[in-house]
Amino acid sequence: MTDVERPIRILLVEDSRSTLQTFLKRVERIRGCESVPYTDPAELFADFPGVEFDIAIIDYMLPNHNGLEVIERLSSSPEHADKLFVIITAASERELHLSALEAGAIDFLRKPVDLVEFTARIRNMIRLRKAQIAMAEREALLRQEVDKATAELREREEEIIQRLTLAAGYRDDDTARHTKRVALYSGVIARRMGLPEEFCRDLELAAPMHDIGKVGIREAVLEKPGQLDTEEVVEMRRHTVIGAEIFQGAKSALMRMAKEVAEFHHERYDGSGYPAGLSGTDIPLSARIVAIADTFDALTTERPYKTAWPIDEAAAYIGSRAASQFDPDCVDAFTEASPEIFSICRDHVDFDGRE
Ligand SMILES: [Fe+2]
Ligand SMILES: [Fe+2]
Repeated sequence: MTDVERPIRILLVEDSRSTLQTFLKRVERIRGCESVPYTDPAELFADFPGVEFDIAIIDYMLPNHNGLEVIERLSSSPEHADKLFVIITAASERELHLSALEAGAIDFLRKPVDLVEFTARIRNMIRLRKAQIAMAEREALLRQEVDKATAELREREEEIIQRLTLAAGYRDDDTARHTKRVALYSGVIARRMGLPEEFCRDLELAAPMHDIGKVGIREAVLEKPGQLDTEEVVEMRRHTVIGAEIFQGAKSALMRMAKEVAEFHHERYDGSGYPAGLSGTDIPLSARIVAIADTFDALTTERPYKTAWPIDEAAAYIGSRAASQFDPDCVDAFTEASPEIFSICRDHVDFDGRE
């Protein structure tokens, strides 16, 4: 049975037992509902918040509490905030009616209660409540569908990024392993900085994209042993611009982060980096983190133009470049997380620095 098919529960709070009996008999004759009777608000409060109801019909004059207090107490709990409250009053004072509306009542019944009117009002409220429940169910269903579609989109996006990572590492195994380690180091640094998990996860996926722009650089430059000449340096540096072009116009947070990382991972904190010469926090945080991860990995592995550095020397170098090349906060996180970073490094690099 869905929620909309179940009986509508009518909470009746009336201290006069004979009146309550009369109400109960009336409610019994209405299809699709059942009664939840109370004569004493104290008992109702003792059972609260476990009391389940859809519509509450509450007498104003009750022992120890008045009906308004009962409505206020019930409607203040989030699961009862949308329930329908009706108050029964003997008085016709405007003040009291206004207070009842303010307390959350949607209707009044005047004493002595006209039983035909009582039944008609309850029928109307049952219809209203059923419509409310059906709408809430539809809303929940829609929300589920939106969540599912969002999750599917995210899944597809992650798949695209992972396939791009594969493409970026296709040229050689070294590149593939480099991008993987840069992702791992970046994730460790970001988590140590206490950044939100969503950001850390995106960064781990985006970090391998940092050198994606190298697909546009000639192999002769990429693989050249020894130093690059001035022209070759200019060409090599273009990988940041090409990377940014690959992700140009990206809409999602993940793809935008991939663009940031690809474009700005060679910027320096003091403004002496490339391609834009950004400094400090003008450099996106993702790129400031990846800059450290990328440099540490470049130092600890062999490249065509250099041998691998010992891990502690590479870490000391990163520490010495705080506030000049790197964001000092990111360097602090890197240093604090060094046991974890060193163990990733050892697990992924063999003794002579080759992966
Ligand atoms: Fe790079
Ligand atoms: Fe790199």
